[in-house]
Amino acid sequence: MRRMAEREHGVVTEPSLKRIGVLTSGGDAPGMNAAIRAVVRKGVYHGLDVVGIKHGYAGLIRGEMDLLDLGSVADIIQRGGTKLFTARCEEFKTPEGQQKGAEILREHGIDGLVVIGGDGSYRGARALSHLGVKTIGLPGTIDNDIPGTDYTIGFDTALNTVIEAIDKIRDTATSHERTYVVEVMGRNAGDIAMIAGLAGGAESILIPEYPFDIDQVLIKLRHGVNRGKRHSIILVAEGVGHGMKIGEKIAEETGWEVRVTVLGHLQRGGSPTAFDRVLASRMGAMAVDLLLEGHTSKVVGIRGTKLIATDIDEVLEMKHEIDLSIYELAGILSI
Ligand code: ADP
Ligand code: F6P
Repeated sequence: MRRMAEREHGVVTEPSLKRIGVLTSGGDAPGMNAAIRAVVRKGVYHGLDVVGIKHGYAGLIRGEMDLLDLGSVADIIQRGGTKLFTARCEEFKTPEGQQKGAEILREHGIDGLVVIGGDGSYRGARALSHLGVKTIGLPGTIDNDIPGTDYTIGFDTALNTVIEAIDKIRDTATSHERTYVVEVMGRNAGDIAMIAGLAGGAESILIPEYPFDIDQVLIKLRHGVNRGKRHSIILVAEGVGHGMKIGEKIAEETGWEVRVTVLGHLQRGGSPTAFDRVLASRMGAMAVDLLLEGHTSKVVGIRGTKLIATDIDEVLEMKHEIDLSIYELAGILSI
């Protein structure tokens, strides 16, 4: 099958590569399952053994792994979460933990590893590559905070979840003529708040990348009320601070009825959107191609519609940037 695949696709493969591993690490994200499925199916298509490592790096150093066949990834493309479970593992941040991980991979004959996670997980992958394991990273996080890619796996689904929530909150906000503060995830990044705020028509969006002045927020809200707005939604990225505090401040200053909703972990669940399924499938397949071509220490990203591979070192040195023209547009459209 491998030779047939090589003939069809013209890929020059690394003959020594026989068995690869795949793991998910850090916060889960919808689409991780689609990525696992793609790694397994593409790997098997090229004649590789694909081993699923459970519970991220924690499971790796405990040797928790199973061979995954074609059927083992059936019926997961549409599921949120991760079939391989995920974890955060402090021990893996130590040289001893990383050595243990590399030794376990060697003992199991695993020559290449696909790590699906955020930038913390990329640091773990880089450590393993320094110990001789060929590693490829895929950006899996709802936060969209990883440099080297326009989109991360899970971001689009989380956005749609947030937009659905905003639409629902707007129904009740309109009926009661209330002001709502909605806090969304994103860790230190404002991507979820900014894009969902634009798509959901939020009156104000507070993100860590754009310094805000609460007095300006209040002026805008009052201006809206003066021209007849009966309700408002203020979207707050968690990186800015607690939505509850901002809600209290607005209530205190205006005397209006304010309610605060913290969307929390529901933003991490749910069936991935078509966009995330396709992105994850393409990225998973490319990770296998990169390993077959002998690459290591690379991460996959998307620029426009094209997949790209970048050195992990380069990506870890870059700073995540957001397009502030979108933020400014959202501000203009919500006057
Ligand atoms: P994410 O991958 O979503 O950014 P974390 O930052 O929590 O999530 O990282 C996930 C895991 O990656 C950590 O629990 C740890 O096991 C591993 N990791 C994070 N930083 C490092 C590091 N500097 N060196 C080695 N492993 C790391
Ligand atoms: O990185 C994904 C994310 O959901 C962030 O948006 C959030 O800050 C964090 O993980 C929450 O982590 P935990 O699952 O440990 O509560």
